Amino acid sequence: MRILIVGCGYVGLALGRRLSSSGAEVLGLRRRGDPEGSMAAAGIRAVLGDLTKAQDLEKIPGDFDAVVVAAASGRGGVDAYREVYLGGARNLVEWARGRRVGRIVPVGSTSVYGQTDGSWVTEDSRTEPDEATGRVLVETERVFSEADCSGVVPTLIVRVAGIYGPGRGHLFGQFVTGQARREPGRWLNMIHRDDVASALEAVLLRGQPGRIYNAVDDEPVLQEDFLRFLAESTGRPLPPMADPADAPGSIPIRKRGNTNKRVSNRRLRDELGWRPEFPTYREGYAVAIAALVGTPGAVSPSGAEGAMIAP
Ligand SMILES: NC(=O)c1ccc[n+]([C@@H]2O[C@H](COP(=O)([O-])OP(=O)(O)OC[C@H]3O[C@@H](n4cnc5c(N)ncnc54)[C@H](OP(=O)(O)O)[C@@H]3O)[C@@H](O)[C@H]2O)c1
Repeated sequence: MRILIVGCGYVGLALGRRLSSSGAEVLGLRRRGDPEGSMAAAGIRAVLGDLTKAQDLEKIPGDFDAVVVAAASGRGGVDAYREVYLGGARNLVEWARGRRVGRIVPVGSTSVYGQTDGSWVTEDSRTEPDEATGRVLVETERVFSEADCSGVVPTLIVRVAGIYGPGRGHLFGQFVTGQARREPGRWLNMIHRDDVASALEAVLLRGQPGRIYNAVDDEPVLQEDFLRFLAESTGRPLPPMADPADAPGSIPIRKRGNTNKRVSNRRLRDELGWRPEFPTYREGYAVAIAALVGTPGAVSPSGAEGAMIAP
């Protein structure tokens, strides 16, 4: 198989490593090329280019059995979302018209589900998020879905939950640095980076064109229970309750745009036989917790990240 990964960062590199080790020829597009050699180390051939520039895509050599879109807008706001996700989608669909592309697999986000009532959501649930960034992602999905429906290129969208793993884990990092606050009643949906890669591979190889798949682990967890688990596992204190009135810098419980839902992975499991290597946060955070417990009191914010970096 010949595969292009557009955006080779945290997810793209893990996917590329997985695909190249199973014999695929993998090319990866990035604006900065491969200065640190991480793409070469993962068996990915670097192609220099910017997804938001149509002329850059024309320089990508050859046809592809599959294209995975894993570029991220970085810390930018809604304008960056529009440029990278929506503009990038339009450019890719136009680019695909001119060559043989077997399928496009865009990495989407479960933030398209705007539900706030803690209900279960599936791929068929409403996607009407309050957040402007979420709405751009809904629009981006529509570009890909229309390309599929109109026969331009088969597309299979993967809506990914909050990613953690070596070097990543937002709430874990806040817990370690004492910035975490309990937000009772709020559900978290997470997935380990390596399971994102295996989910993308399953969709790429066996997914049904036009279909959408949620990529999330087996067990949504209440934010407060996750913090309790971290406290009990590490012997550190349970973080205080979030209280916007007396805790500057803490996160308000009902921040505008905060969604609250439980995302189901049943379709990925039932239809594609996908099984996460880390079914819950307990398995997924075991290494990071062991590292933390092994060095009590000696973990700085950067150390917390370092503790999660796999050998
Ligand atoms: N983090 C989460 O919890 C989460 C949850 C759900 C979905 N997602 C989605 O998962 C995907 C992958 O995220 P990630 O964490 O792997 O991102 P990441 O680590 O920030 O990597 C993003 C990659 O995209 C490249 N890139 C950015 N803009 C580009 C452009 N205009 N043209 C070409 N390449 C570009 C970057 O390299 P250069 O800077 O060199 O171009 C980098 O290699 C994203 O679509 C993200 O929205 C993430």
